[in-house]
Amino acid sequence: MKIVVIGGSGLIGKKVVTNLRQRGHEVVAASPSSGVNTVTGEGLAQALAGAQVVVDVANAPSWEDNAVLAFFETSGRNLLAAEAAAGVGHHVALSVVGTDRLLASGYFRAKMAQENLIKASKIPFTIVHATQFFEFVKNIAQSASAGSTIRLSPVLMQPMVSDDVAAAVADVALGEPMNAMVEVAGPDKIRQDELVRQFLTATGDPRNVVTDANAGYYGIKVNDQSLVPGDNPRLGTTRFEEWLGRTTPQKKAIEPQATPPSSLPGKVGKVVALLLCGIVFAALSKVTLTMAATTEPKEAKLTELTSKDLTDLPGKEGLMLVIEYPPGSSS
Ligand SMILES: NC(=O)c1ccc[n+]([C@@H]2O[C@H](COP(=O)([O-])OP(=O)(O)OC[C@H]3O[C@@H](n4cnc5c(N)ncnc54)[C@H](OP(=O)(O)O)[C@@H]3O)[C@@H](O)[C@H]2O)c1
Repeated sequence: MKIVVIGGSGLIGKKVVTNLRQRGHEVVAASPSSGVNTVTGEGLAQALAGAQVVVDVANAPSWEDNAVLAFFETSGRNLLAAEAAAGVGHHVALSVVGTDRLLASGYFRAKMAQENLIKASKIPFTIVHATQFFEFVKNIAQSASAGSTIRLSPVLMQPMVSDDVAAAVADVALGEPMNAMVEVAGPDKIRQDELVRQFLTATGDPRNVVTDANAGYYGIKVNDQSLVPGDNPRLGTTRFEEWLGRTTPQKKAIEPQATPPSSLPGKVGKVVALLLCGIVFAALSKVTLTMAATTEPKEAKLTELTSKDLTDLPGKEGLMLVIEYPPGSSS
């Protein structure tokens, strides 16, 4: 089956594309960076030719009230018109749990406009409402940050990892159109202030979260029903602590230790381990020469040289560390 993923280069889009390709489908990852623009219409007709399903996981480049509304309205109109012309049989769109309860926000008014266009079109559809992504927690912290203080309400949330969102969207794309909305959410409910506190602790961010019942969510009033799903959501399986553990290993890595770290998870672990091998070898040779005369046991010295966000691995950082093991240390 030919499936076009609009926004196929984005956080969710890339994962939906991979998921569907692994299941044997012909998938076009469509976005401005590959010459398909739903706002200008560029490349749309060619991309959609022969497609049975279109998945829209695009997002607006600007979230300013007027700009985001113009994006989702124009993009939605152009896309649905192109789908009608191409005879597409299922339009799948990703939106946000609680969109209809959050209309004091310009962003959610724009998502509502996108959903209304879909419902008003003649194309069979399924709208997937997801809760906030774990990867979005950094953005929530940033939005409420003033200096070293982050003021957040303790409103209930039920966030989820982007992989679980993408898996749900891919499953929906391969199913029959429901002409309705389905909800997906994370396995656990957690309060917003606590969620961000856990994120800051895991990433070694020294900012302080102040709980403020009036702080709202992106400046709008919310209650404990606003951001969580209704009765029967599909639940993701990845827990926030588990995700934090595998995406934020840097804090453990920079704690001084007697032996080099041997089990840092994932790609960061490999990057750090490779750097360590070379740097530790060099440091050892130097220290051995300069300190050979002393027999007094010394602590290993650890210095962080640089850290850099790995753009292909959201939430992960590459670290360059120097560990100096003096002669006589236990390693
Ligand atoms: N953040 C959350 O917690 C959350 C929760 C629930 C639902 N959602 C929804 O999830 C969706 C995807 O979010 P995301 O974080 O994966 O987005 P993202 O990483 O910011 O990616 C945005 C995608 O949209 C594409 N795009 C931008 N302008 C376009 C245009 N004119 N025509 C076609 N494509 C265009 C981008 O293409 P280029 O790379 O080529 O520019 C990119 O592929 C959004 O609709 C959002 O409302 C988000």
